[in-house]
Amino acid sequence: MSGFIPYGRQSIFDDDIDAVMETLRSDFITTGPKVEDFENAMAEYLGTNHAVAVSNGTAALHLASLALLEPKTKVLTTPNTFLATSNSIIYAGAKPLFVDIEDDGNIDLKLCEEMLKKDPEIKALYAVHFSGKPVDQEYLSYLKNRFDIIVVEDCAHSLGATTKSGKKAGGCECSDASTFSFHPVKNMTSAEGGLIATNDRNLCEKLKSLRNHGVVRRPDMAPWEYEMQDLGFNYRINDLQCALGLSQLGKLDSFIARRHELARRYDTAFENDDLIEPLYPFDKHSSYHLYVVLIDFERTSIDRSALFHAMRSKGIGLQVHYIPIVLQPYYKRLGYEEKKLPKAMRYYERAVSLPIYAALTDEKQMFVIDTLKEIVHG
Ligand SMILES: Cc1ncc(COP(=O)(O)O)c(C=O)c1O
Repeated sequence: MSGFIPYGRQSIFDDDIDAVMETLRSDFITTGPKVEDFENAMAEYLGTNHAVAVSNGTAALHLASLALLEPKTKVLTTPNTFLATSNSIIYAGAKPLFVDIEDDGNIDLKLCEEMLKKDPEIKALYAVHFSGKPVDQEYLSYLKNRFDIIVVEDCAHSLGATTKSGKKAGGCECSDASTFSFHPVKNMTSAEGGLIATNDRNLCEKLKSLRNHGVVRRPDMAPWEYEMQDLGFNYRINDLQCALGLSQLGKLDSFIARRHELARRYDTAFENDDLIEPLYPFDKHSSYHLYVVLIDFERTSIDRSALFHAMRSKGIGLQVHYIPIVLQPYYKRLGYEEKKLPKAMRYYERAVSLPIYAALTDEKQMFVIDTLKEIVHG
């Protein structure tokens, strides 16, 4: 099999390249008309009133956290996520509280409810739709209303996923804001890029100012005038990235359809396998950003590290999503520990992410399946 097979990668077509080239030849290669076009297209796709595009998904979380969280606020979130989710809470001076996960890798909302009942200082919940499978929106909405909390959805995995009510995940059905990443391994890409979606006009204005040094311009000001109202950042995205994002957005639903085909084939391949188990049965709502299997390493002759090396020697990249955040040295130094997270720890011992991306061919996927089975069953 020629060519390395990574766990995820972009799918770029000629018209994507043409869109970027056309922008490169235009008057705007930093903030220009493509930024607003991309924001409008994303808001329409998601069904939200507003969208604010920024330089990456971490910047999106950072700005949402600054705009929505009071310092010292306690915020419930998941340990099974990328560092950026909980880091953004800390950037805003707030305190993440890690809640154990359910069997599908998502935050356990029942545990969230218990914690909210006990501690009135908890004012927010950051949910991640892990692997692209949306967290229960009805339950999230109940928690938001019952406890009057801020809800942020980290949709870095779930662009293109749908909720049970048939809407797009990240459409802010039950949240104040949802954030996205367009890193090349994600469901579509703008090379680097991120976005915050919201239905709140004031929040949208605040985010737009924060992404550009906290600067505000009003119609009553002189043409050269601007006011810095807050301590903001340069988290701007540019027209080249947005031209690519716009072009990719047109293909997103076909990318998701392909991810579904690949997920179904993996499901079938592992149906009767006693050592390799899909994280959850096929879910049409998931965007399948990740395809995670749980491997029973207690019964295999090979450990996970050896499996990774063996697969790599055959040209196949695997990943683990994620090392529970509380195990990171920085978080340990802050006093976090894994004691109350038995399911996240058990999950972490067994989780392996297999290659899944729109450009993965059937032939390559079969090679991944056959190679994995051969090595695991030794
Ligand atoms: C769940 C989650 N949140 C946030 C991010 C951050 O996105 P970015 O890499 O665009 O900063 C990622 C990216 O890997 C992610 O997976």
